[in-house]
Formats: sequence, structure tokens, C-alpha cells
Amino acid sequence: MTVFSQARSLFFGSVFLTAGFASLPFAVLSLILKGRPFDIFSKSKISSANFTILWSIVGKPSAADEKLTNKTISQAYGVYLDLGPGTGFTVHHFDKSKTTKIFGIEPNKAFHPALQKAIDAAGLTDIYTIVGTGVEDSETLKTFGIEEGSIDTIVACKVLCSVPEPKATIEHLYKILAPGGQFLVLEHVKAKWGIGALAQALANKIWPFLMAGCNLCRPTEAYLYGAGEWEVKDLQHPEGVSGHEFITFTQGRLIKAK
Ligand SMILES: C[S@@+](CC[C@H](N)C(=O)[O-])C[C@H]1O[C@@H](n2cnc3c(N)ncnc32)[C@H](O)[C@@H]1O
Ligand SMILES: *[C@@H]1O[C@H](CO)[C@@H](O)[C@H](O)[C@H]1NC(C)=O
Ligand SMILES: *[C@@H]1O[C@H](CO)[C@@H](O)[C@H](O)[C@H]1NC(C)=O
Repeated sequence: MTVFSQARSLFFGSVFLTAGFASLPFAVLSLILKGRPFDIFSKSKISSANFTILWSIVGKPSAADEKLTNKTISQAYGVYLDLGPGTGFTVHHFDKSKTTKIFGIEPNKAFHPALQKAIDAAGLTDIYTIVGTGVEDSETLKTFGIEEGSIDTIVACKVLCSVPEPKATIEHLYKILAPGGQFLVLEHVKAKWGIGALAQALANKIWPFLMAGCNLCRPTEAYLYGAGEWEVKDLQHPEGVSGHEFITFTQGRLIKAK
């Protein structure tokens, strides 16, 4: 583990936490201004109102993020699910020539206007449909024709940290994939032993509240590998990442057995 990558990770983690706290009053104010003052007594509603503000600012990808995201997303083809697209920071990476239909599964409706703008700017208006529900909501997904064996590509970019019941949800996503279909992943995961892992365990007491349910300590690789039979299982830390950082990413592709 390089000292530099750990220090950088802890630094950005602290910035996120601070920004999270700082945005709380704005979240409260925004709910009141929207005429939903009673929502400020709901922990989950204030959490997601706040995250909407936060992510629009701190979620903006750096040049390095753009490269990583593009590496993952440019492999998408066919009919696919874009899980938790948020404000649409990543939609311009989709290769239109390989795509017939995209469903963006985004439960936070406060993100939808910005997301639709990004979709239009990327020239995806005709093929990209926003589905305003959580990916675990299989009943609603079915009404869009998203059912077992129907999807060629699932893209998960910084979202499996936030879905409820990750193990069951990922197993369900495995079933939705067509045989030979691919699961493209760029996710932050539970750190291996050390300062990063310790800091994660501590920060995770408050982080999910500040970051709309994002959990720092998920063994997402194990959930993915264990979801079913795969022909290809290739998840790795990006270059310069050891797996010990406070915010540590895994990236790659799994292909469902035929
Ligand atoms: C950290 S943001 C990432 C946004 C985007 N993928 C990006 O890379 O810029 C996490 C996103 O996941 C969404 N999300 C949270 N729970 C979800 C769920 N159960 N199903 C689908 N998306 C969810 C959030 O609303 C949010 O937009
Ligand atoms: C509000 O958002 C900020 C920045 O996104 C975040 O740091 C803070 O934890 C959030 N607070 C709540 C209650 O969600
Ligand atoms: C993403 O990568 C693809 C293929 O490697 C490349 O053709 C494309 O120009 C890249 N797009 C962006 C936005 O970087």
C-alpha cells in the first residue's frame, strides 16, 4: 500500500464528511422551501434531500474518474440497465452504436431533471428511459419489460454501496442478466486491514446517513462472485489502488455463464 494513496483517500473522505455535515442545513431549508416541512423529521428524506445537493457538487468526476468510468461504461452493449445514474455524470460514456435501449434506474426523483438534461446532451433521448424506482423493486421493473434473462449489460458505477440488502439485490440482478450477459462494475468496497479499514468502520457510523445510505464497508466483490455461475470473473483494483485505502475501488467485468 502506498502512503500517498492512503493519505489521499483519507483526505477526500474527510472532505466528503465535512461537506455532508455542511449541506445538512441546506437540505432542511430546501425541504421547507419545497413545502414539505414535515419531511425534515424523516431521517431518510432529509438524508436524500441533502445528498442531492452534495452529489451535484462533490460527485463531479475528476479527469482520473472520467478515464476509469469510460473504461467500464464504454464496454456496454445491447439492452442495458444503468443503475443509479444520479445526475447523469456518466451517461456521455455510453457508445450509442452498440446500444438498443438503456434503462436508468434512479429512485431519487430530485436527480431526474439534471439526469434528463445529461441524457439529451449525450444524444440519448430516444433510447434512454428513466425508471424512478430502486433496483430492488422488481415489480415496477417488470412493467418496463425488465425481467429474468432480459438484459445484456448491467452497469453499476458507485451505486452498489447504496442499494438495500446488497446480497439479495445482486442475486436478483444476476437473474435479470441474459446468459452470456455482462455485469460492468466500478464500486468502492470494504478495505483490507489497516488504517483505511479502521477509518471505514468508524466513519460508517454516520456516513450512510450523510450520504443517502452509502455504506463504506461492503464486500461487494464477494456478493457479485457469489451471485451465480460466471464465465468471466475479473474484478481488480484500478492502477495505483491497493485495496487498503479508506475509499478503495474495484473495477471490472463479470460475464454470466451461458
Ligand atoms: C454515489 S451516486 C452515483 C451516481 C452515478 N452513478 C455517478 O457515478 O455519478 C449513487 C446513486 O445511486 C442511487 N441509488 C440509491 N439507492 C438505489 C437503489 N436502491 N436502486 C438504484 N439506485 C439507487 C442514488 O440515488 C444515487 O443517484
Ligand atoms: C448532506 O449532504 C452533505 C453533502 O452532500 C453531506 O456531507 C451530509 O452528510 C448530508 N447530511 C445528511 C443529513 O444527509
Ligand atoms: C471512451 O473510450 C472509448 C473506447 O475506448 C473511446 O472511443 C471514447 O472516445 C471515450 N470517451 C470518452 C468520453 O472519453
